[in-house]
Amino acid sequence: MTLHRLEQMREAGEKIAMLTCYDAAFARLLDEAGVDVLLVGDSLGMVIQGHSSTLPVSMDQMVYHTECVARGNRTAWVIADLPFGSYQESMAQAIENAIRLMRAGAQMIKLEGGGWTAPIVQSLVQRGIPVCGHLGFTPQSVHALGGYRVQGREESAAEMLLRDARELAQAGARMLIIELVPSAVTRSLSAQLPLSVIGIGAGSGCHGQVLVLHDMLGLTPGRLPRFVRNFMDGATSIEEAAHRYVREVKSGGFPDDAQHGY
Ligand code: KIV
Repeated sequence: MTLHRLEQMREAGEKIAMLTCYDAAFARLLDEAGVDVLLVGDSLGMVIQGHSSTLPVSMDQMVYHTECVARGNRTAWVIADLPFGSYQESMAQAIENAIRLMRAGAQMIKLEGGGWTAPIVQSLVQRGIPVCGHLGFTPQSVHALGGYRVQGREESAAEMLLRDARELAQAGARMLIIELVPSAVTRSLSAQLPLSVIGIGAGSGCHGQVLVLHDMLGLTPGRLPRFVRNFMDGATSIEEAAHRYVREVKSGGFPDDAQHGY
């Protein structure tokens, strides 16, 4: 997989199937199941380490998991998250840490936040590092946002989302994750912007979908958000669940806005 190929898929209307991934065994399995993009997300702080948020995840841990995923993967595109505290202090800090993730095997780095990150995005892109933005509900800002809440419901908030997305695209971001946003807002944003919009809890009107691996395998205890579907339901193996996820994303069967959208 290449960035060029992902952009061809977007232009051709083929949906991009992305899942989070944290180790070599799952990287191999998901790649063989046809997952287009593996995201080494800092959600590993919650699903692997058992924390209640992504905030404690360190750069060293992200580098370790990125290396594991890169070793198991053969063809999928690999994105790694810059964790909380690894790009907030200075441009130099952001550049140094993005380089560490690229050296560990990432092909693109992801960072959270709107306009204030645009200069960072631009600097990374100028240095040959592809960047994915992340807007809407941004888990590293969970405390500032007052918990896990849908973003962009009010007209002014939706406008701000669009403005932030435009700034990231202008700065050179090639992909954007939109999390927990009403389907109609994401649909309009995806139609207007020259980058690949990947949704999680953001409806069907995106260029692709991402879920946290442990959520879609039914491994996350407790009540799950409405946008999650357990692909192990009715599947006899993890391989089958991963294949079903890819098939459902590509066919437009998942997500169903009535069932999974806001
Ligand atoms: O860290 C992560 O897994 C993410 C996804 C929720 C998109 O950012």
